[in-house]
Amino acid sequence: MRFSSAAALLAAAASLHGVNAATADDWKSRNIYQLLTDRFAPPSDTAPARTNPVPETCDPVAQTWCGGTWLSIIDKLDYLQGMGVDAIWISPVHQNIDVHTPYNYAYHGYWVNDVTKLNPRFGSEQDLQTLISELHKRDMYIMVDIAINSIPTLNQNDALSSESLAADNSMWTDPAYFHKQCWIDYSNQTSCEICWFGDANLPLMDVNTEHPYVISTLNTWIKDFVTKYNIDGLRLDAGKHIPPEFWSGFTQSAGVFTIGEVYDGSWNFTASYQNGGHMDSVLGFPMNGAISKAFSIKPKNSNMTDLGVAVGQQLSSYNNPRVIGNFLENHDMTRFRNVTADPILAYNAMVAQFLFEGIPVTYYGQEQDLANGHDDPYNRAALWPTNYENGTTYQRIARLNLIRKQLITTGLQFNGKSYMDDNSTAIGVTPTDIAFRKGPIVYTLNNRGSPSETEAFGILATGWPSQTALVDLLSCHQFITGSGGSLSISYAQDGYGGLPYIFATASDAKTLGICGKPTPVGVLAPNSTSAADISSPMSVGLMGAAALLTASLF
Ligand SMILES: *[C@@H]1O[C@H](CO)[C@@H](O)[C@H](O)[C@H]1NC(C)=O
Ligand SMILES: *[C@@H]1O[C@H](CO)[C@@H](O)[C@H](O)[C@H]1NC(C)=O
Ligand SMILES: *[C@@H]1O[C@H](CO)[C@@H](O)[C@H](O)[C@H]1NC(C)=O
Ligand SMILES: *[C@@H]1O[C@H](CO)[C@@H](O)[C@H](O)[C@H]1NC(C)=O
Ligand SMILES: *[C@@H]1O[C@H](CO)[C@@H](O)[C@H](O)[C@H]1NC(C)=O
Ligand SMILES: *[C@@H]1O[C@H](CO)[C@@H](O)[C@H](O)[C@H]1NC(C)=O
Ligand SMILES: *[C@@H]1O[C@H](CO)[C@@H](O)[C@H](O)[C@H]1NC(C)=O
Repeated sequence: MRFSSAAALLAAAASLHGVNAATADDWKSRNIYQLLTDRFAPPSDTAPARTNPVPETCDPVAQTWCGGTWLSIIDKLDYLQGMGVDAIWISPVHQNIDVHTPYNYAYHGYWVNDVTKLNPRFGSEQDLQTLISELHKRDMYIMVDIAINSIPTLNQNDALSSESLAADNSMWTDPAYFHKQCWIDYSNQTSCEICWFGDANLPLMDVNTEHPYVISTLNTWIKDFVTKYNIDGLRLDAGKHIPPEFWSGFTQSAGVFTIGEVYDGSWNFTASYQNGGHMDSVLGFPMNGAISKAFSIKPKNSNMTDLGVAVGQQLSSYNNPRVIGNFLENHDMTRFRNVTADPILAYNAMVAQFLFEGIPVTYYGQEQDLANGHDDPYNRAALWPTNYENGTTYQRIARLNLIRKQLITTGLQFNGKSYMDDNSTAIGVTPTDIAFRKGPIVYTLNNRGSPSETEAFGILATGWPSQTALVDLLSCHQFITGSGGSLSISYAQDGYGGLPYIFATASDAKTLGICGKPTPVGVLAPNSTSAADISSPMSVGLMGAAALLTASLF
């Protein structure tokens, strides 16, 4: 008896101190859906808008609130789970300046002026708690965007005077809690850390995160916030604009998985935040650049070798590549589909997003092919005009999530290596095609796009013996390896052009529960919603000319 009550007490104490909090290891098998609370789901009877009036149509250019709330997110959780989403990252939840500015209104939630209060535009404490408990009931994680780097002010000319600071309704009332004014020089990291975002119209005063009072206040606050709301993870806004040393203490106090926005194209620079122990992970901006380059039409300036090099960089730069956020677009960037209109190229990019080492991060609207040009505010349209359709891209994401999840949960191995533990290794590359082995799968990507081509892509050695029956987990088409385990992929099928493929042995496909009999739901023909025919082998891999493989294996 004494033992069990001591254990119960320990367990209670442990949960109070966040020991059950989700770690990087808990997150690595998840996928994340990034949403802006104001734009993801419309007000409803059970989730009334907090803003009156709500515009009849949500024009992103107007930069005002369109009515989404924490409660309205709940209305669309079935939609997210239908796509296999098991974690959401929501835009900042804390109090913003709530006045008209030269850049209109803080509908996005990033103009936080006091993290100790919630943003009443999105709901109450109870509402946020209701959302989070609803997520947890569904075994979904919640990640909250944390914006602590700067405080907006409308008092351009004497921003740091005591009077201005009092008027800003900010939690920081002493000028010593801010760095002195200078505008950021992005080529200078010190300047990135201490100078100010914004401009003379709307300066964002840079919080002095070296000040002991600021440090202790924020560390205490984040610990309490995470515990109070049962938060599973934090996305750290403006990661590279706060000294890494600050993040070390802050993320330790938070005690949950953290992923930072280190908006930078350098592998080793972004990696230094993870490798230095300052945060668990970063969003993979270098990989985002490599994928965009590989699959964009204009300019089609890449060959697949570069993409293979990028995969190697991801593996060698980061101490823990398996938790790097892999994304195609976000709230600051032009929509991927504006750059890559061809649905087949986008499909290939999505396979990279979901299968490369890392955590796939889908920005709301990607699944509905939102393609608004330019960045902020065009990339922040309301989702509801899409009617949350179960369209081709939505189903492709569902399929990719299913494949990835099944590979992880079954732990299937090839040569002793599972999908999660193995590294994507290029086993064939040409200027337009690349094939990777990763545990029990071989997957191929190409930048041929639509429509069909008569050329084929040959892989000399997949690692499987000759005459092995394979299934493409995307289309459920069957293949058979040729001599030496070779494979030849034709891009002449059905008028679809350069489709990606994810091969597993027919017996592994059965274990995965994908493409077995009976035909599972959600099996997609390349660009339609009808079930694919799996009865006839599509291609028998007889490696004809070695010339098909124009670049050497690496
Ligand atoms: C970088 O920025 C800091 C802060 O503004 C400044 O003090 C320093 O001189 C700059 N360094 C260079 C090389 O420009
Ligand atoms: C990253 O690599 C470049 C070139 O190799 C080097 O100049 C730079 O100092 C490195 N940065 C970090 C943060 O290690
Ligand atoms: C492809 O890119 C690699 C690496 O940048 C380069 O060495 C190679 O010459 C390129 N090949 C072709 C055919 O463009
Ligand atoms: C990209 O955005 C621009 C500007 O809004 C628009 O004119 C163009 O049609 C868009 N392209 C695609 C492919 O949607
Ligand atoms: C994957 O790559 C990393 C970094 O190069 C290496 O440390 C690790 O051992 C590799 N894992 C496997 C299973 O090959
Ligand atoms: C979407 O449509 C596909 C094909 O009809 C179906 O299998 C799948 O269950 C649908 N998904 C949802 C969430 O309704
Ligand atoms: C698939 O897409 C291609 C190119 O967009 C089109 O020509 C073809 O008709 C589509 N096939 C089906 C079955 O929708």
